[in-house]
Amino acid sequence: MTAADAKTAALLDRASGYDYHQGPMTVPQTNPGDFWSIECIDLYKSFGSNRVMNGLNVGIPEGMITVILGPSGTGKSVLLSHLIGLMFPDKGDILVHGESVPRMKQARLLEMRRKFGILFQDGALFGSMNVYDNVAFPLRQHTDMSEEQIKDVVMRRLDEVGLANGAETRSPAELSGGMKKRAGFARALVLEPQIVLFDEPDSGLDPVRTALLCQLIEKVHAENGGTYVVITHDIASARRIGEYIAVLWKGRIVQSGDRDDMFDSPNPFVRQFLAGNPGGPLGME
Ligand SMILES: Nc1ncnc2c1ncn2[C@@H]1O[C@H](COP(=O)(O)OP(=O)(O)O)[C@@H](O)[C@H]1O
Ligand SMILES: [Mg+2]
Repeated sequence: MTAADAKTAALLDRASGYDYHQGPMTVPQTNPGDFWSIECIDLYKSFGSNRVMNGLNVGIPEGMITVILGPSGTGKSVLLSHLIGLMFPDKGDILVHGESVPRMKQARLLEMRRKFGILFQDGALFGSMNVYDNVAFPLRQHTDMSEEQIKDVVMRRLDEVGLANGAETRSPAELSGGMKKRAGFARALVLEPQIVLFDEPDSGLDPVRTALLCQLIEKVHAENGGTYVVITHDIASARRIGEYIAVLWKGRIVQSGDRDDMFDSPNPFVRQFLAGNPGGPLGME
C-alpha cells in the first residue's frame, strides 16, 4: 500500500465511522425565517442489494440556494426523485412544507408537485417542439391563460435566461448544451414554483459555461426568491452558488450547513472533500 493509499484508507475509515448527523438539524444562521422548506428524515432506500440511502437526514432551508454535493452514483438523482414523490423510501419520511410526501394520496401528490420547478440534467426538452412551445407547455397544460398572456410570460422568461433573441423558434436539436439548459430553466420557472430543483445543471458544460449558468441561477434566484436545490458533483459550482451546502457520501449527509461553516468545517473529511483535493478519498471525476 502506498502512502497515498494509506491516507485514503484512513480517511474512508474516518468517513464511515463519522457520526453522521441525525434527527434535528442545525438551523442555518443566515436564514431569518429559520425553517425548513424540505426535511428528509432517516431515509433508507435500496434497489435489490444496492443500498443507496442509508439513514439520510437533511433539511433544505426556505428561501436559500442549497447545494447537495456528492460524487457520481451516490444517489443524488434518487434523492431528488424522493422529494417530488416519484420514488418512495423504504423507511423514513420526506416533509415538504411540513407535509409528508410518502403519505400523500395521489391527488394531493399531483397538487404538491406544482410547488416544484425542475431542471433535469439535459434540459429534458420535447424534441418535437420549438423552444417557445417547450416553455409555454406547462402554462397550456396547467393554466387557462390566453395565448396572449402566455406569450407575455414565455418571452419574459426567455429574456431572463438570455434566449429571447430568436432562439425561441429553434428546435432543441439546434441548441447548444448550455442553451438547452437555459431553455429548461425558463420552462421550470413559468409556473412560478416555490421550490426549484436542478439536477446537475453543470454536467456536460465547459467551465466558462458552467460559471455563466451558475451566475444565471443566482441572478434569477435574487430576482424571484424561492427555495433552490442544486444537485451537483462539482465543488466549484457548490462554492460559487451554494449558500447552504450538504455533503452526500455513502447514502448519508456527512455534514450540512452555511457555506462558511462548511468550508471551515472541523471535520477533516468534509474539509478535504470541499478542497477538492485530488489525493482525497473520493473519485470526483
Ligand atoms: N430506478 C432505479 N432502479 C435501480 N437502481 C437505481 C435506480 N435509480 C438509481 N439506481 C441506482 O442508485 C444509485 C444512485 O443513482 P443516482 O441517484 O442516479 O446517482 P447520482 O445522481 O448521484 O449520480 C446507482 O447505483 C444507480 O444504479
Ligand atoms: Mg444523477
